Amino acid sequence: MNQSKALSLALRPWNCPIRCIVTVRKRIYLDISSAERPIPGNSVLRHLTSKIKSTGPISVAEYMREVLTNPVTGYYVQNDMLGPDGDFITSPEISQIFGELLGIWCLSEWMGAGKPSHLQLVEFGPGRGSLISDVLRVFSQLSGALGGATVSVHLVEVSPKLSQIQAQCLSGDQSRVSASEDEPVYRQGTTAAGLPISWYRNLDDVPRGFSVYLAHEFFDALPIHKFQRTEKGWREVMVDVDPEEPDKLRFVIVPAPTLASTQLIQSDEKRQHVEVCPEGGVIVQRLANRIAGDGGAALIADYGHDGTKTDTFRGFKGHKLHDVLASPGSADLTADVDFSYLRKMAGAMVACMGPVSQRSFLKNMGIDTRLQVLLRNCADPSTRAQLIHGYDMLTNPAKMGERFQFFTMLNHIRLTGPEPKQPELGAKMAPVPRKAPAPLPVAGFSELGLS
Ligand SMILES: C[S@@+](CC[C@H](N)C(=O)[O-])C[C@H]1O[C@@H](n2cnc3c(N)ncnc32)[C@H](O)[C@@H]1O
Repeated sequence: MNQSKALSLALRPWNCPIRCIVTVRKRIYLDISSAERPIPGNSVLRHLTSKIKSTGPISVAEYMREVLTNPVTGYYVQNDMLGPDGDFITSPEISQIFGELLGIWCLSEWMGAGKPSHLQLVEFGPGRGSLISDVLRVFSQLSGALGGATVSVHLVEVSPKLSQIQAQCLSGDQSRVSASEDEPVYRQGTTAAGLPISWYRNLDDVPRGFSVYLAHEFFDALPIHKFQRTEKGWREVMVDVDPEEPDKLRFVIVPAPTLASTQLIQSDEKRQHVEVCPEGGVIVQRLANRIAGDGGAALIADYGHDGTKTDTFRGFKGHKLHDVLASPGSADLTADVDFSYLRKMAGAMVACMGPVSQRSFLKNMGIDTRLQVLLRNCADPSTRAQLIHGYDMLTNPAKMGERFQFFTMLNHIRLTGPEPKQPELGAKMAPVPRKAPAPLPVAGFSELGLS
């Protein structure tokens, strides 16, 4: 049986009503202000101003790192910021169809790679665990397609608070925290379906092996440096204390080049203002290295651009834009992902595809068919309205359809197919050249023919 046929057979149950996937999370969207929460901003601000007063302005990257992931006061470390009562809402939280289609993508990449006997599902920054939970439900529904292959789940998460919420969502009370804080695996457990699941702070601690990596709204949370083109060349934008108001912060352009401004700007850069995320670049290089060595694929989805945008650094609080320098620690900080930079960092080690818009990706993955199947099986008017509303939020070009982009990194063999076998030395008869099966199309980046 060829691979396309196998994939289409495996996905056939997807077109049938699947009762447990029909349930819809009740959600209210975007125009909701967050409930008043204690603002840790004052202590973060005190810490930042005293640091700047003693050592001088800090880079925007250092500012973001301190505000978002400081082990004691960090915004991600302290808060559950997702959902209607938080500061922002993400696609997996809006509609479960999103995670279900990404589950199909993971399965399809595993098939495209020749169905290795073990699959590691790795997610970066899993938030509340909703995306991976929807992916795993699809794996349970389509377990027949996996044959005898085994699956393990690996979550890279910096926030102890969110890891607790993820553990509750994915394994109930079945997870345990490591005895020592220094352990690379800081939490372990089993999912509801009995799969081993582990939590790490860094990609380097995730075991090597064939893996499908997912990163949704992860790269946009990583620290960026900001640079401004001036008459004297590129200069870094930094964060300083406002001399007029000592408990306020402001941006300054430093007069002399910094290490970052001399190292991080591409020689052919045309823009006047640039944001660079070196931490994102390092993670992509490590991912590329793993995918080239062990096989697998990475799917990175985020709001972003292909090297065209300039000033995208912004804050979100209570679903509204928030001044990035005001009450640090009380709001999310984010910057659009520059996919052209990620592609450069991946280099020639892997094949890259995209970015393509979320609308194109989800339509190629069959979101219209999926919505129709769910609607056919759902009589409740409010659930039907939720399904349609979620679909519109995800795909409407004026909402999340065009702003969010999908990008993938693949092992080269995935697109070229394995090398044809060489004739053995000393073979008596000239062997008939064997044609390798055509590789499966990469789902989402081209139309997936569901028959
Ligand atoms: C914007 S949230 C996105 C959550 C989820 N992926 C979603 O789409 O709903 C960012 C996630 O990345 C995690 N995170 C941020 N910086 C991180 C880092 N440096 N290392 C690991 N996780 C990080 C946060 O704790 C959070 O889970």
